[in-house]
Amino acid sequence: MKQVTTGAGLRLALEEANSLGRRRVLVPTMGALHRGHLALVKRAREEAGPDGIVVVSLFVNPIQFDRGADLDAYPRPLESDLAHCQAAGVDVLFAPDVAEMYHPDRSVTVSETCLSRGLCGATRPGHFDGVCTVVLKLFLLSACHAAVFGEKDFQQLAVIRRMVRDLDVPVEILAFPTVREPDGLAMSSRNVRLTPDHRADAPRIHRALMQSARLTDVAAILDAARKEITASTFARIDYLELVDAGTLQPITSLSHPALLAAAVFYGDVRLIDHVLVLPIIC
Ligand code: PAF
Repeated sequence: MKQVTTGAGLRLALEEANSLGRRRVLVPTMGALHRGHLALVKRAREEAGPDGIVVVSLFVNPIQFDRGADLDAYPRPLESDLAHCQAAGVDVLFAPDVAEMYHPDRSVTVSETCLSRGLCGATRPGHFDGVCTVVLKLFLLSACHAAVFGEKDFQQLAVIRRMVRDLDVPVEILAFPTVREPDGLAMSSRNVRLTPDHRADAPRIHRALMQSARLTDVAAILDAARKEITASTFARIDYLELVDAGTLQPITSLSHPALLAAAVFYGDVRLIDHVLVLPIIC
């Protein structure tokens, strides 16, 4: 595995692959890698083929954090991330620092203005501008043909797809299903920051979404999910919404596939999860 920290180093590491026309597949991450990330790397390898190049980027992107404390607390276990990447057969690991990625007087930001308005975009101002900006930069730096993202960040995936469509970015976006712990908790780099009590309680988010998604009325679904989550003495809802799965706009009736999505705080750790709710066709 080649490990590089600069854009120039990345270009050099990819030069041979470029000249041979091999498929380059990127997995953008912020590190603190878990089984969910490793599943994305496996998907990237399948996509790249044995002769292709799998690039993993590892960069805790400061401009997508709305809270300084969250950025500071974000786990950065570099040594174990390197070992995971090595073991997973990653070809190139790109781990730049902030000064490498952002000029001190940077003045260009990529904004998606529709799909990013609600859900996480509403409670984390500027988050998706930060995501779009860094993801576009990573696409350009790696000159990747395809990139793999987890469906757990459903809104992020939709926003990135829209950016790629609207800006004619020649990168194929591949999605991979959410990977869960045996008790249902969606894997997240933030899970390691949960206290034992909070960790034991957190699977209720997925349980609440799954159970209430079986109902057929919008108000009843939201009510049931809210009751189950707030029955916890630890959980605090940041948002709980039922939105159209395509437009991400709130809905009042279940006539199209919908997304039941929640962000829940345990202490200062914010977890997100969602389930798809399909309309019953009679
Ligand atoms: O999903 C993430 O880990 C981040 O938002 C991403 C896509 C790596 C951009 O920083």
